[in-house]
Amino acid sequence: MKKTVKLNNGIEMPTVGYGVFQIPQEQTKQVVTEALNDGYRLIDTAAGYLNEEAVGAAINDSGINRDEIFLTTKLWVQDFGEEKAAKAIDGALKRLDQDYIDLLLLHQPFGDTYGAWRAMEKAVKAEKIRSIGVSNFQSFQVQDLMMHNEIKPVVNQIEINPLNPENKNVQWLKDNDIVPEAWGPMGQAQAGIFTNPILKKIAQDHQKTTGQIMLAWNIQRGVVVIPKSVHANRIKENFDVFDVELTDEEMKQIAQLDQNHSYFSGLLTPDTVRTLGNLKFDYQN
Ligand SMILES: NC(=O)c1ccc[n+]([C@@H]2O[C@H](COP(=O)([O-])OP(=O)(O)OC[C@H]3O[C@@H](n4cnc5c(N)ncnc54)[C@H](OP(=O)(O)O)[C@@H]3O)[C@@H](O)[C@H]2O)c1
Repeated sequence: MKKTVKLNNGIEMPTVGYGVFQIPQEQTKQVVTEALNDGYRLIDTAAGYLNEEAVGAAINDSGINRDEIFLTTKLWVQDFGEEKAAKAIDGALKRLDQDYIDLLLLHQPFGDTYGAWRAMEKAVKAEKIRSIGVSNFQSFQVQDLMMHNEIKPVVNQIEINPLNPENKNVQWLKDNDIVPEAWGPMGQAQAGIFTNPILKKIAQDHQKTTGQIMLAWNIQRGVVVIPKSVHANRIKENFDVFDVELTDEEMKQIAQLDQNHSYFSGLLTPDTVRTLGNLKFDYQN
């Protein structure tokens, strides 16, 4: 199984990363250090996770060459608009204590995303950011953004797991040379996903865990995964997936699990847009 994927700007991105959503700042340095020691080279954080300082400290103290690590962070809606986003990019660099960020994403498709995108394009030219992308965008929104701006997104990070495989969006992104990246690749451990009988049987046959099968399935269909765990054994386990090759028959069986809707987010209602649009995080730019 491939360890990296080439983005549409020629930069290589690891296919398995470590996500730090919901990990408190005080715990983050230790778990990111464990992940780096286990071989992860992609770390996924966000301004809204309030743990960028600890992610940056783990990277800086790791002894690993900076150019071997692929660091992703995200701008939150409160910083959208060109001027605010420009300031927020400098804020992120400061909190992370980095000279550059490998991938910066618009966290949500709300507010003045176009102004923020222009600031992100300028930051690419200023070599503060290497690649820019989006998250939680519908494919029509990605199409519109790339039609009316200069730099095309390299990635759309969306919820993708066996219960919600997002087949149409994944195919559209691949057809347009944009890498689909799965958040919640193990369904945030909800909806009985770890005890699903089909996934369990396939896991047994490969002498792997259910979690490893969920990750391998996504990687095999060209989707980057960023599992999160705070447990050392699971952090290690979630990276030990490169030797799994699922058969066509197994891929078909997993395809049958499609529930055709999100169990975990459901962002497309006026209520959630209002809630997320009003959500403010307490970090300093
Ligand atoms: N762009 C966005 O809007 C967005 C939204 C959500 C997430 N994300 C990103 O995607 C990353 C991953 O998504 P996620 O954290 O929401 O969900 P996830 O990775 O699908 O699932 C995490 C859950 O699974 C458990 N888990 C992890 N590995 C396991 C294993 N091997 N066996 C059993 N249970 C396991 C974890 O528990 P323990 O920690 O207790 O092990 C945690 O409860 C995030 O950290 C974040 O970087 C982005």
